[in-house]
Amino acid sequence: MIILGLETSCDETAAAIYDSGSGLRGHCLFSQVETHAPFGGVVPELASRDHIRKLMPLVEAVFEQSGVQPRELAGVAYTAGPGLVGALLVGATAGVGLALGWGIPAIPVHHMEAHLLAALLEPDPPQFPFVALLVSGGHTLLVEVQGLGIYRILGETLDDAAGEAFDKGAKLLGLPYPGGPQLAQLADQGRPGRYALPRPMRNQPGLDFSFSGLKTALALQVRGKGGVAGLTEADRADLANAYQEAIVDTLVARSCRAIASTGHTRLVIAGGVGANRLLRERLADGLSRHGATVYYPRIGFCTDNAAMIAFTGCLRLAASPDAFQDLQVAARPRWPLEELRP
Ligand code: KG4
Ligand code: ZN
Repeated sequence: MIILGLETSCDETAAAIYDSGSGLRGHCLFSQVETHAPFGGVVPELASRDHIRKLMPLVEAVFEQSGVQPRELAGVAYTAGPGLVGALLVGATAGVGLALGWGIPAIPVHHMEAHLLAALLEPDPPQFPFVALLVSGGHTLLVEVQGLGIYRILGETLDDAAGEAFDKGAKLLGLPYPGGPQLAQLADQGRPGRYALPRPMRNQPGLDFSFSGLKTALALQVRGKGGVAGLTEADRADLANAYQEAIVDTLVARSCRAIASTGHTRLVIAGGVGANRLLRERLADGLSRHGATVYYPRIGFCTDNAAMIAFTGCLRLAASPDAFQDLQVAARPRWPLEELRP
């Protein structure tokens, strides 16, 4: 079964082709980072317009890259939510239009479900059940994954998402958008232990997260030095180091607790923050002490991509071959993960 996948939920336009027999056949992606950088964040209207410009050339490119012909496709999968509504509508209308033209099913895919399953695209993939740590710009969740569509949220953030915390911290340190990866880079040059930042909710029971207090603590440190202009290069690197340490420490402590409380032996990382090197190292280390193994998607599939959409669409179509006949355009900016069914 060969599926074309489209992703347009935020600021990445992507197309990919997944083959249930031979795996991923091709994937192409265009990032809008440069469009949004001058505004310090994603501008929804600019995102939608750029998806319109880039999506069909990417679809053509992925056919060329993979050598697949449209007549070989069993379906078109597209991100139906959650995300920016205008951006979602571009992928949804394109996906449904193509499916209609080719006379095949259109499969609306939940973006977070696709992130949860992205690690299954790698060699030696994790078996169900597992615990997933989903850490992106908009979400921070610990999810128990029993199988396709069987998800239980174990914990989530009460305020900022982990990626948002990285991005806001980067802004406070005067780094350009998108700040997360740049803060991580700067942190690697910093000296550990020079600044102490809090570990929000560290001593509370349960599996929820909170990052807004940490951001305030960093803001106070910066203000104490007379604002970002008063920071030396070393101050910025040392503060970035302490800040990254606090976020990673919190994520690792909660993940270990989730493994201990559920008794599962596999933790799967998903979402953009999963690209963070320190988080990967510390999780592998922390979880090995609980007898658990960590699974990651390749770095390029931690952040938004269409490979995970094509793959999830393929699993969904295989599980329910008759479920995707009505070619309604689905775009759901809000779509709770727990509404999904097997
Ligand atoms: O999953 P994603 O690509 O988009 C959604 O939010 O759906 O995640 C993007 C987030 C951003 O907040 C970005 O700053 C963060 O992931 N991120 C990182 C790193 N790479 C991306 N945060 C920390 N360290 C990184 N290396
Ligand atoms: Zn995402």
